[in-house]
Amino acid sequence: MPASTQDLVGKTYVVTGANSGIGFEAAKDFANRGATTILVCRSQVRGQEAMERIKQETGNQGIHLYIADFGLLASVSAVADKIVSDFPAINVLCNNAGGSNGTRSVSAEGFETTLVTNHLSGFLLTQKLLPALSKGGEQGLARIVFTSSYGHTHSPLNFDDLGLEKDYKSLKAYGRSKLMNLLTAREVQKRYSAQNIVASSFHPGAVRTPIWGKGGPVARILGVVLYPFMVSIEKGADTMIWLASSQDQASVQANGEYFIKRTRTTPASFATDESAQKLWQVSMDMVTPYF
Ligand SMILES: NC(=O)c1ccc[n+]([C@@H]2O[C@H](COP(=O)([O-])OP(=O)(O)OC[C@H]3O[C@@H](n4cnc5c(N)ncnc54)[C@H](OP(=O)(O)O)[C@@H]3O)[C@@H](O)[C@H]2O)c1
Repeated sequence: MPASTQDLVGKTYVVTGANSGIGFEAAKDFANRGATTILVCRSQVRGQEAMERIKQETGNQGIHLYIADFGLLASVSAVADKIVSDFPAINVLCNNAGGSNGTRSVSAEGFETTLVTNHLSGFLLTQKLLPALSKGGEQGLARIVFTSSYGHTHSPLNFDDLGLEKDYKSLKAYGRSKLMNLLTAREVQKRYSAQNIVASSFHPGAVRTPIWGKGGPVARILGVVLYPFMVSIEKGADTMIWLASSQDQASVQANGEYFIKRTRTTPASFATDESAQKLWQVSMDMVTPYF
């Protein structure tokens, strides 16, 4: 973590999946630099622990915990309302919560779990926070960062079966959700750059976080095989922190693009503007009942 420069005093940062892994690391960095930091977490207990630890380690008491289950759009919608009511201007949103699922399951609202957790919930949160981010944009550049993955290269989206009813595989579901994150960043940029909002997505590397133990047998095996090659959580969070806070021109002008190790990187050939536009429309249709 860089020495505390206090350069984020007066800014409000929102980080989802902030109790663990790279989300926790990034939230701690923002807090350490003076940002009012909003942690969006699934578990009250884990979120509370993370909030106390960040307060203790950074001395910043402006850390706020909000609870939402990203498996349920109604939960995300309710938390978005609370956040916007408490913080009408937001400077940065890091859409980071996510994971993989060994077997296919469907939420009580009818969405495949990986689709809703990794994409639709962040999409809905973004939509509902956009007015507050636009206000943040009036104070200076507002930013939205999506935690994608190299896994987005797995395969193109099948718009006829986004929930993978026909041929579910955990890596396929995960990879496609990460492609959705990348495409959403691009489309946010197109639609909201006029409001002084910049969007981006990134791959953090293969990072030694708890994620590998949570996603079923394939993720667990991959976690064991890749473990010697994985990077630390600090390194994994570096590009997110840079995209969310750096004054470097490459970061300020991220332009909806995809980054690895702070470097603009060409995504999979099927990550087209056309699919980004289509995904936006289809996702809007799915989340609109929960607004
Ligand atoms: N680690 C890697 O190698 C790697 C590589 C590429 C991309 N990524 C991406 O990086 C992001 C962060 O992952 P990480 O590696 O830091 O793993 P992590 O430590 O497991 O963090 C994931 C975070 O997302 C939260 N989350 C998961 N499901 C949720 C739900 N239904 N509702 C609310 N929050 C939920 C987790 O909460 P709980 O603690 O309650 O589970 C946790 O806070 C993910 O989007 C992941 O896809 C990671």
